[in-house]
Amino acid sequence: MEKLVIEGGIPLQGEVKISGAKNAALPLMAATLLCAGRHILRNVPDLRDTRTLTRLLENLGAVVERKGDCLSIDTTVLRHGEAPYELVKTMRASVLVLGPLLARLGKTRVSLPGGCAIGERPVNFHTDGLRQLGAVCTIKEGYIEAEAEFLRGTTIYFDIPSVTGTENLLMAATLARGTTVLKNAAREPEIGNLVDMLNSMGARIAGRGTDVLTIEGVTALQPADCRIIADRIEAGTYLLAIAATGGSGRVTGCCPADLPSLVEKLRYAGLVIREEGDSLAVSWPGAQTLVGVDIKTAPFPGYPTDLQAQFMALMTLCNGQSAIHETIFENRFMHVAELRRMGAKIKVDGRFAVVSGQGMTGLKGAPVMATDLRASSSLVIAGLAASGRTDISRIYHLERGYENLVEKLTGLGARVWKERE
Ligand code: EPZ
Repeated sequence: MEKLVIEGGIPLQGEVKISGAKNAALPLMAATLLCAGRHILRNVPDLRDTRTLTRLLENLGAVVERKGDCLSIDTTVLRHGEAPYELVKTMRASVLVLGPLLARLGKTRVSLPGGCAIGERPVNFHTDGLRQLGAVCTIKEGYIEAEAEFLRGTTIYFDIPSVTGTENLLMAATLARGTTVLKNAAREPEIGNLVDMLNSMGARIAGRGTDVLTIEGVTALQPADCRIIADRIEAGTYLLAIAATGGSGRVTGCCPADLPSLVEKLRYAGLVIREEGDSLAVSWPGAQTLVGVDIKTAPFPGYPTDLQAQFMALMTLCNGQSAIHETIFENRFMHVAELRRMGAKIKVDGRFAVVSGQGMTGLKGAPVMATDLRASSSLVIAGLAASGRTDISRIYHLERGYENLVEKLTGLGARVWKERE
C-alpha cells in the first residue's frame, strides 16, 4: 500500500488543468451498452473507477481501447448480461449498467452494489423505476435480476432526485415503447452530459437541465462520439486547496456555472473569486482572515455533498464558527476524526458538524487515514495548509477520483510525494 506525504504550509500558486468528470464518464461509458457499434468518448479521466468500469464492460464482451484521454468502446458483441459481485462491490456506480443491459438484451443480472463508507446507498429507485417500465425485477442472492420482453413508457416520480437513479432510468427509457416522463429528476451537470450523448445517438429526450425529463422511446440508436464535461468536484477541490494554503491561482478547463454555490460560499467567506471563461481564479483580499460560513448540502444547484468534506477543511482555518449540515448521506463525516488529529476543533451531532475555526495556523501535520474518496481529499487540503508533515494512508481512495493528483499539486508548488506504507 502507498501513502501520500505532504510538507504543508506552502501557499499554492499558478494554474491547474481540470480533467474530465468521473461522475459523467461512468454513466456515459455505461450508455455505450445501449447499442452495438464502436463508440468514442473523449476527455475520459484515467482513474481507478473508470478502469474498474472498463473491466466490467470487457467482462460483458466489449472491446475497450484508450488512446490518451480518448476511449473507444466497441459493444457490438455482448457475451452475457451479468455484472459480477467481484467487480460491482469495488465500485457501486457499476449499477449503471443495469438500465442499458435490460434495454439492450431484455434480461440482465447485476450484483447489488452494497453500501459504502458514507452510507447504505440503496438502489430502490433504480429497481422500482424499471418495474414501472414493465420489467420483472427481483433481488436474489445479492443480485438484481431484471427481465422484460420490452419496456413500456410511463411516468416515474423520484422521492429524492437520485443522480444514478435518474441516469439508469433515462438510459432504459430511450429504447422503451412510448413516452417516459421522469419527475423530480436530478439536475446535476453530469445528467446534461448524458442527455447530450443519448440525443446524439438518436434518442429523443427533452427537458435537459430541468427536473422533468421526457423521453420518446425509439427502436434503435447509433454509436456515440462525444466529450466528457470537466469535473466540477475536482475543480472545487483545487479551488479550496489554493484558498486553504493562503495562495493565489486558477483552475482551468472547467465550467464556472457548474459550481454556483461553492463560488458564492467562498466569496462570502472573504475570498476573491474571478470567473474567467473556462477558468476560476481564487485569491485573497488584503488581510488573510476568513469568516466561518454555514453550508447545507443539497441536490444541484445546491451545495454539493461531494465538496462538503473539502469545505470543512477550509473552515478549520477561519476565524469564527461554521455549521455544516449534510443532508444527502447519513455517514459523511468520516474525515472529522482525522481532521481532529491535526488540531481541528469540530463537534458532530448526527448530520450536523460545527467547526470552530482557529485561523490560518490552526492545523498541524500528523499521520491520518483516508476512509473514502472525498474525505481523503479533505485530508489533502488540510495537509497542504498545516505546518509540518502529514502522511495520508490508504490513498487508493484518492486514486478513484483524482487524476494525476501528485503532478497537479506539484505544479501548484506543493511539496507532496508518494511513499510505500
Ligand atoms: C451520485 O451517487 C454520485 N456518484 C455521488 O458521488 C454523489 O455524492 C451523489 O450522486 C449525490 O450527488 C456518481 O454519480 C457515480 P444519489 P448516487 O442516488 O447516484 C438516496 C463521489 O464522491 N437513494 O443521488 O448513488 C441515497 O441514499 C460520489 O464521486 C435512495 O434512497 O447518489 C442518498 O441519500 C459519492 N434510493 C440520496 O438518495 C436509491 O435508489 C441521493 O443519492 C438511490 C438513492
